[in-house]
Amino acid sequence: MTTIDSYIASSPRRATAPVYAPSPPGTPSIPGAPSSPGQTPEHQHASSASPTPPGRFDLAALLAGNSPRHMLDLHERHINPAMAGVLKTIGFDVPFVRAQGAYLFDESGNRYLDCLGGYAVFACGRNHPVIADALAQALHAELPNLPGIGIVRLAGLLAKELLAIAPGKFDKVQFASGGAEAVDIALKQARIATGREKFVFCHRAYHGLTVGALSVTGNHEFREGFGPLLAATAEIPFDDLAALDQALAKRDVAAFIVEPIQGKGVNIPSAGYLKGVSELCTKYGTLMILDEIQTGLGRTGRWWACEHDGAGTTWQPDVLLVAKALSGGSMPTSAVLCRNDVHRAVFPSMNHCSRIQNTFSMNDLSMVAGLAVLHVMRTERIVENAAAVGTYLRDSLAALCQKYCMLRSVRGRGLMIALEFARPSGLRNAPLAIGWDLLHKADPSLFCQSVIMPLMSDHRILAQVAGHRLDVIKLVPPLVFSKQDADDTIAALDATIGAIHHFPGPMWEVGKKLSGAAVRRFKN
Ligand SMILES: Cc1ncc(COP(=O)(O)O)c(C=O)c1O
Repeated sequence: MTTIDSYIASSPRRATAPVYAPSPPGTPSIPGAPSSPGQTPEHQHASSASPTPPGRFDLAALLAGNSPRHMLDLHERHINPAMAGVLKTIGFDVPFVRAQGAYLFDESGNRYLDCLGGYAVFACGRNHPVIADALAQALHAELPNLPGIGIVRLAGLLAKELLAIAPGKFDKVQFASGGAEAVDIALKQARIATGREKFVFCHRAYHGLTVGALSVTGNHEFREGFGPLLAATAEIPFDDLAALDQALAKRDVAAFIVEPIQGKGVNIPSAGYLKGVSELCTKYGTLMILDEIQTGLGRTGRWWACEHDGAGTTWQPDVLLVAKALSGGSMPTSAVLCRNDVHRAVFPSMNHCSRIQNTFSMNDLSMVAGLAVLHVMRTERIVENAAAVGTYLRDSLAALCQKYCMLRSVRGRGLMIALEFARPSGLRNAPLAIGWDLLHKADPSLFCQSVIMPLMSDHRILAQVAGHRLDVIKLVPPLVFSKQDADDTIAALDATIGAIHHFPGPMWEVGKKLSGAAVRRFKN
């Protein structure tokens, strides 16, 4: 007997109709309301005493009965002890219980400002009421979700909207759920459309962690131990057209994949770089895959980051990827936009109509989330807000470079901002240089944690280090960030960066604590 069989056999209700039978349309679902014909006597009795029908899954009770601490223990025991260890060590094990807009709230009602944004997924902010309402409408509309073989009604509507705002003329949209899945689809499209095998990607590029996406990811710490990856690849420096020219010249490259701004490190290419990439790709018959999974939909203060470089007017990528913001922070959704010629190569006949697909990609909730995100972004002018607040935040933070010798630069576009630190120079700063060297010798990734950790513990601000072995902090808050939120972030960073300019001092103890913890091994 299987587990589920034995459950049914032991269940006292197995011979009766489903206990929580759906009400016929129009039946009010309020306590004391007349019961529906399918209800059991047990159900009728319970519903007169309580608004919760028996058999109802009670999420609120489940959450109330399991403290956030217990949930962290479960994470440690059953999911990823190493990650749980990191959260505890850096003080990110905060028991959040609610979130709204750019804020998270802990058990005691303390408010935290979110400059991390779930890795840049929140364009419209957390739990936006319009998006939540749209999802609730979809759930209660008894939609014919996932027909499998059948008409998917909402996907066409979202595809049409994406094509209308795309930077250039695209014809078709292929949906997926995660960003890396979208990358894999684009790589396959490129191989079949060009009949070539090879991919070129950039040093420090991040395109995700499926085997395909990892093969074109230039952050090598993610690749270690997972090889052999796709063999026909070549890595070149970012923002280097001469290197690209050389890499493509043999005309054997299917695609060059590139981010308009690299997420790891927040590296912004020179003006004209992306246009130059497009021209070289056209010259050599290579497809340009532009990965706007993180930057697309307003993050950089334009709908698409490539628009800063004129895309949609004088040039356009061949394939465009978008994901994070499209989810509304709730329903994983990614999309691959391409022209008809690329699409036709993948789907040349009815025999080939399902060559690239996945089970959940066009599920109704994801499509509704995407449509609602675009609606909110337009009605609330969220792209304009990202541009205005982002410029204010970046410029105000850049002014701190005059004040602090270790803050080398502040860069970014819209609400994708980086603060880069550097070893202090000059006799006057010799003690700071000693601290810098000690910390970097212990671990080249630690310095920024000395800022991130007090930002969280002392100022209740979430932020992140921009990548392995980088002295760069990254801010990617929800795009609904207000000027007041920006002012709070500036004040907190001013205080935190100020404190780390005293050596020796308590801020440098953070590094000592972390360097010990970093090497700790976890038992299964
Ligand atoms: C530019 C870029 N491409 C691809 C990905 C991978 O997306 P996912 O984590 O949803 O697979 C990311 C994720 O951070 C990203 O920033």
